[in-house]
Amino acid sequence: MRDIVKGKRIVVTGSSSGIGLETARVLTEQGAEVLGVDITKGFDHVEEFYRADLSDGATVNALIDVLPEGVDGLVNNAGLPPTQPADKLLAVNLVGLKHLTLGLIPKLSDGASIVNVASLAGFGWPGATDAIKAADDLGFEGIGEFIERWKVSSEGGRSYFFSKEALIVWTMRNRWTWRDRGIRMNCVSPGPVDTPILGDFLKTLGARAEEDRRIMDRPGAPRDIAPVIMFLLSDMTSWIRGTNIPVDGGMSSNLMCGMHGL
Ligand code: NAI
Repeated sequence: MRDIVKGKRIVVTGSSSGIGLETARVLTEQGAEVLGVDITKGFDHVEEFYRADLSDGATVNALIDVLPEGVDGLVNNAGLPPTQPADKLLAVNLVGLKHLTLGLIPKLSDGASIVNVASLAGFGWPGATDAIKAADDLGFEGIGEFIERWKVSSEGGRSYFFSKEALIVWTMRNRWTWRDRGIRMNCVSPGPVDTPILGDFLKTLGARAEEDRRIMDRPGAPRDIAPVIMFLLSDMTSWIRGTNIPVDGGMSSNLMCGMHGL
């Protein structure tokens, strides 16, 4: 598989660390033009860098304005770990992500691919559909009230789990929204990946992390995730729509087998 993203203009959020950095690096190496977005400083692995706080609506609007037309791919990767305050986390991981995506649609090329970086933490979405539906029209200003009403505070990492559950469902529900323009959206759901925020996850999971360690051969690395994102950005995947691809060393299959007595 050569040149699968060559010449494509791709926006990657959270491009300064971990999975986003590796994704931007691999895409650039493969001949894509990467436009990186992050709240911290950028590096030279991107063609252009836009410093932006995706938890702030006005900043996201300004970003949408300055990004160029003709974007062939959007990787919604920026995210905060469960140890961060719930309002900030939901603003970045869900509300800001949706706001950026919807605002960028007019600037996307026909046939563009949107890839959302969700998580194994979103696996339990079928148990949260009422709250997920209630989050449909959630804007930046309503987050505090929503956290109270739907009990998605940072306690036990619930805000993080919810942000990823809602993201997987949002992706599924938008399987055909932009079908007339050939624009598709999918998720990649990593298991535990060795990046600067892995420690936050383990801290939040507590005893559950011990169980994960028992079934995990090794934590993932950003290089395990980036190629799958790149694959979804390529034209080869134009009939993959609204789906979620786990990249987790078998952990979601393990959960599924356990749930169904297999
Ligand atoms: P990371 O912390 O290494 O990278 C996240 C990037 O997002 C950072 O560069 C950070 O500055 C940026 N970011 C955070 N808040 C921002 C904001 N307000 N505006 C703009 N940029 C912001 O973390 P990692 O592990 O690479 O995470 C990337 C994505 O992968 C996240 O969405 C995370 O939830 C997801 N994920 C990570 C897993 C892991 O074990 N590391 C497992 C499953 C999913």
